[in-house]
Amino acid sequence: ILATDYEAEDGVCQGTIDSNHAGYSGRGFCNTDNAVGAAVEWTVNAGAAGNVSISIRYGNGTTVDRPADISVNGTVVAAAKSFPGTGAWTTWNTVTLNVPLVAGSNKIRLAATTANGAANIDKLSV
Ligand code: GCU
Ligand code: CA
Repeated sequence: ILATDYEAEDGVCQGTIDSNHAGYSGRGFCNTDNAVGAAVEWTVNAGAAGNVSISIRYGNGTTVDRPADISVNGTVVAAAKSFPGTGAWTTWNTVTLNVPLVAGSNKIRLAATTANGAANIDKLSV
């Protein structure tokens, strides 16, 4: 099954949409505010209820993890999910997890759990 991409710049980005670190897809990435709770949120439509694999593409040019809570429709489904350093802000890796979706519209939210904010978030693939 082909994944659908949801660019961070098309979601709700608590921060700025930046394009100063090459290698992102689309028009840029979400540089979240460097604060606890800084978030990116996407609206994802699912044809049927069920668990699906999602991937989040990110860059973290520091050597410090940028963990984030992943929630679906207001429920945390992965607490403090790790977004480790990628070696450079221009190096983008993916984090993959399974999440439960309802049929129809779903809100998938990534919210930083440390004062460093989240990693730079490029896109969500479902
Ligand atoms: C740098 C980098 C940003 C990043 C920020 C951070 O300013 O250029 O893209 O978001 O560090 O530490 O969060
Ligand atoms: Ca940032």
